[in-house]
Amino acid sequence: MNILSPSILAADFAHLAEAADMVAHGGARWLHLDVMDGSFVPNITLGAPVIKSLRRATDLTLDVHLMIDRPERYLDDFMAAGADIITFHVESTSAGDEIIRRIHAAGKRVGITLKPATPVEALLPYLPMVDMALVMTVEPGFGGQSFMPEQLEKARFLASYKERGGHAYDIEVDGGVNMRNVRQCLAAGVNVIVAGSSVYKGDALKNASEFMKVLGE
Ligand code: DX5
Ligand code: ZN
Repeated sequence: MNILSPSILAADFAHLAEAADMVAHGGARWLHLDVMDGSFVPNITLGAPVIKSLRRATDLTLDVHLMIDRPERYLDDFMAAGADIITFHVESTSAGDEIIRRIHAAGKRVGITLKPATPVEALLPYLPMVDMALVMTVEPGFGGQSFMPEQLEKARFLASYKERGGHAYDIEVDGGVNMRNVRQCLAAGVNVIVAGSSVYKGDALKNASEFMKVLGE
């Protein structure tokens, strides 16, 4: 079952509830929320208060991507705000085990991710415990960058590791995904597609429904 998780980073921040509604009407069931702190990545976006407001405005599964240093400091805020899935960077913390334990104890799903320069082996200790592994196909920090196809090698590795180990994690891809490379992502074993610019630049409802057609093929 393939999932579309539109990234509202590319939407109009004055109209986030409408941005959620448009992609829901286009068939998306998840919404990707990029949290950046200006330290782990050189950009500042949104935090728990925005997620809390969106939680009241939509039934979409809130897929929260934390690009912040030492995310263990803010986990309770994001969980209380209504995040359904919280993904953190392996490079951002030395408390990975604790983070996974706390998110699961709250009855939520946890994902792990890595920057393009980090080898996929860095995820190995966590793969038996997580619900999702996210492959970044751009340098985290900004929407609208070009897709890095060589990063899909990590998705292929994660898919075969999952098969061999009998694991159950979803494999998500994030960064520069569009209608021209989405099939390549699916073929690499990805089942959750994040798309920001390619959904929100233009008619978001129409763009989301076009992605959904490919995801259902
Ligand atoms: C980048 C973010 C992405 C970004 C994707 O750091 O993690 O989720 O919003 O946007 P596009 O699809 O425009 O690359
Ligand atoms: Zn993201």
